[in-house]
Amino acid sequence: MEKTVQIQFIRFQNLSEIPDKYKEILDSASHAFHNSYAPYSNFRVGACILLENGNQILGTNIENASYPLCMCAERNAVAKLSFEEPFQKIKAIAVVADKKNVMVSPCGACRQVLSEMENRQNSPIEIIFQGEEGSYYLLDSIKSILPFSFSAEALQ
Ligand code: THU
Repeated sequence: MEKTVQIQFIRFQNLSEIPDKYKEILDSASHAFHNSYAPYSNFRVGACILLENGNQILGTNIENASYPLCMCAERNAVAKLSFEEPFQKIKAIAVVADKKNVMVSPCGACRQVLSEMENRQNSPIEIIFQGEEGSYYLLDSIKSILPFSFSAEALQ
């Protein structure tokens, strides 16, 4: 039986089309990448998590000469959140890079980690990330970018 998975997203042509609530976290994410340590890729990424209480948690990528140890901005933000505000639900996450006009959608590992956070809090996390040519993509859940995710259900 053949089936299709569909995802819904909004593509904003440029920053001016984006509602203020998302613009704010995109702006914070682009402050975050100034603290990036990315001497190997020179690709500096910033992430901003928006919590239910309105607080923001920032993260940036930190690289290592032992390449597999490089850590993405998104997962560093989740790690920071885990000890600063572990019981706050995540409403949204924004991801941008200092290199413009390229898509910065989270890697597979970050999708899996964010998906776990969705399961833990039992509510969806909106994601907005930089797209190509000055655009931005908004999706209403991490599951939208990680169909067939692995979860605790399998471990019962
Ligand atoms: N990177 C992130 O921090 N987040 C993403 O969504 C994509 C990739 C980082 C990892 C590495 O330090 C650099 O970007 C190049 O892959």
